Amino acid sequence: TDSVSPVASNVEARTPPYPKLLKRLEEVRRLLPNRKLTLAEKILFSHLDNPEESLLGGTDNGASIRGRATLKLKPDRVAMQDASAQMALLQFMSCGLPTTAVPASIHCDHMIVGEKGADVDLPNSIAGNKEVYDFLESAAKKYGIEFWPPGAGIIHQAVLENYAAPGLMMLGTDSHTPNAGGLGAIAIGVGGADAVDALVDAPWELKAPKIRGVRLEGKLSGWVSPKDVILALAGKLTVRGGTGYIIEYHGPGVESLSCTGMATVCNMGAEIGATTSIFPFTPSSHVPYLQATHRSSIAEQALRIASGPQNLLAADAGAQYDDEVVINLSELEPHINGPFTPDLSTPLSAFKATVEANAWPETFGAGLIGSCTNSSYADMTRCESLVRQASEAGLKPKADFFITPGSEQIRATVDRDGLMQSFETAGGMVLANACGPCIGQWSRTDGVNKGEANAIFTSYNRNFPGRNDGNRQTMNFLASPELVTAMSYAGRTDFNPMTDTIPLPNGQSFRFAPPAGTDLPSAGFAVGNPHFQPTPPVADSSVEVAIDPESDRLAVLEPFEPFPREDLTGLRVLVKVKGQCTTDTISAAGPWLKYKGHLPNISENTLIGAISADTEAVNTVTDFDGSSHTIPDLAKKWKSESQPWIVVAEHNYGEGSAREHAALQPRYLGCRIVLAKSFARIHETNLKKQGVVPLTFADEADYDRLAGCDEVRTEGLYDVLQRGGKGEVSLVVKKQGSGEEVRVPVKCNLSPDQCGFILAGSALNLLAKKGKS
Ligand code: F3S
Repeated sequence: TDSVSPVASNVEARTPPYPKLLKRLEEVRRLLPNRKLTLAEKILFSHLDNPEESLLGGTDNGASIRGRATLKLKPDRVAMQDASAQMALLQFMSCGLPTTAVPASIHCDHMIVGEKGADVDLPNSIAGNKEVYDFLESAAKKYGIEFWPPGAGIIHQAVLENYAAPGLMMLGTDSHTPNAGGLGAIAIGVGGADAVDALVDAPWELKAPKIRGVRLEGKLSGWVSPKDVILALAGKLTVRGGTGYIIEYHGPGVESLSCTGMATVCNMGAEIGATTSIFPFTPSSHVPYLQATHRSSIAEQALRIASGPQNLLAADAGAQYDDEVVINLSELEPHINGPFTPDLSTPLSAFKATVEANAWPETFGAGLIGSCTNSSYADMTRCESLVRQASEAGLKPKADFFITPGSEQIRATVDRDGLMQSFETAGGMVLANACGPCIGQWSRTDGVNKGEANAIFTSYNRNFPGRNDGNRQTMNFLASPELVTAMSYAGRTDFNPMTDTIPLPNGQSFRFAPPAGTDLPSAGFAVGNPHFQPTPPVADSSVEVAIDPESDRLAVLEPFEPFPREDLTGLRVLVKVKGQCTTDTISAAGPWLKYKGHLPNISENTLIGAISADTEAVNTVTDFDGSSHTIPDLAKKWKSESQPWIVVAEHNYGEGSAREHAALQPRYLGCRIVLAKSFARIHETNLKKQGVVPLTFADEADYDRLAGCDEVRTEGLYDVLQRGGKGEVSLVVKKQGSGEEVRVPVKCNLSPDQCGFILAGSALNLLAKKGKS
């Protein structure tokens, strides 16, 4: 555990291009002379490819940029996790470039199972995924991408420790990429096709977000942790409340948060649909964190910029937010969110009554702490302080207790400092530095069967049905790691560690004192296993990218067919989805992750979590002849019959992750349109990039007028695609059975560039075409 990181020598390549950004910001000031800018705007605008075109073109000369302008951005870097990197790289490869245009990194974290503990699970997962890791590593070496091998850690933790920096703008192929906002970066979760834009130096498009201010007042103390800020906010704003917004934290309360605590808050901004979240450069926490992670020179530059005339790293005094929420940290309570949706938020003091009122299980089987969201040194030391108290009283956790370190740096440090020993002595199981149970890669060994209702508590960020163990009946309650740890000792959902006691064998009772911890290790971070360091980012064109033509896990991508030179006709409704439809619903994770690089094989899971409004059953639809099928089976049948189709859905279609497979798979199977009441931002963009047209109902009530197998043709869509992509279109629906025709007005909302994607068949088709011309 040498305390000097071998990656420290690489700090220059990890420093945002500050002089260039400051120059660009000056140019933006000249274009928008009287405008006070928020922090998010400063960083975004200083990354514009052509500020004049983006800010003044089509926006009343700059008067109404937010929600209107299309920003064409040049991000500084790209990070990819192993599951989504496969498709991103397959797409990048088809563009034929020798190296990536911006620095990039690959992190092997999603495909590692949590079952028996890191020592067993990691080698098993490496053996089981060797083919994919070989592909990723060979592509990384060929194109000069830093490759973080399995076991090195979870993407967002590695990014925070190595790449995030105040003023940076980056894209990540994972929806929790905004984690880096905790260190003052604009970091946005995207699909692989968007990442390819940055990797090939094409400007990446973003509709200028609105900015929601969250003013923090007061100070955190006792049981309340940074996680509670976002758990409470999710309850206030709901899973749709952040859509189209960047959440910008500010106010005096910011100073009481650690850098990693800010990252936790930004990480879970994804749960309210925000484009991203960001904290201002906060010297009291950011400088020590940058120093501890071997980036003192970045800290020095950030300090200089913060005292300079432009101050790229904080909002202008008097900058306006589109709206604002105030949270007083001194009055905040711990919260518990769930089950099944991250915005069902209950203050701890009301949780017992809520458990009773809803007849949720009174006991729970597992408490899981760590993950990309909550495995900082502060989190681990605070949890360990509780474990130590309980151990001294002679208690063991009643629920199974799992710890997932976010990175090798964290694991090695808490191991050196004796925390791991406390966890393990208490009976906790330390899992690999990877996603594991957070992404359905949890082989439970406690006898809970699929379909059995049960509860778990996690310090993770997401809790859709089936997310952790593949069992849709597992109720995942999200809380701070401190709360999960303390509650695991009672094993009861109605236990309030702030007020309740646990009986001891000697007849006395035990009550936890509030957790206490330290933000950063006094002896510095340990480096840990040298095998978990990344490969250097040097391109070597002589490397052959490893793809076996016989593979069932990797397949070279075939281009999709272009849009016809006329309106679409003869489409059929494959499924009318009822209720929530997340990207997990459309493309399930867990065991399917292994087919991420093989489009035909992973398409076997398409929409298997969807409830059909016609049959009222999960993954059950009917063909024209009345025969019953699973959704992917009917889609495959229709594909083989050259029968194109559409999906009809309700609100926030595609919420959840940045998983582009949720767009690619339907497209591959023959989907041309998704018609929904509303869309989640990342998924809507992904659909457009893959050549699927997202349309919204002009009148939501028309949802009721469509059903499975109805025949649909568009009127005016081709015309709208020719004219820039915005406007009303009609769907003429011939009802299956009666043959009656109904007309459904719908809205199309594409940018001119996106029209190009749709017409070419996909964004990649267009890029490849441009590359050849
Ligand atoms: Fe991994 Fe879960 Fe985070 S899947 S990236 S640990 S949200």
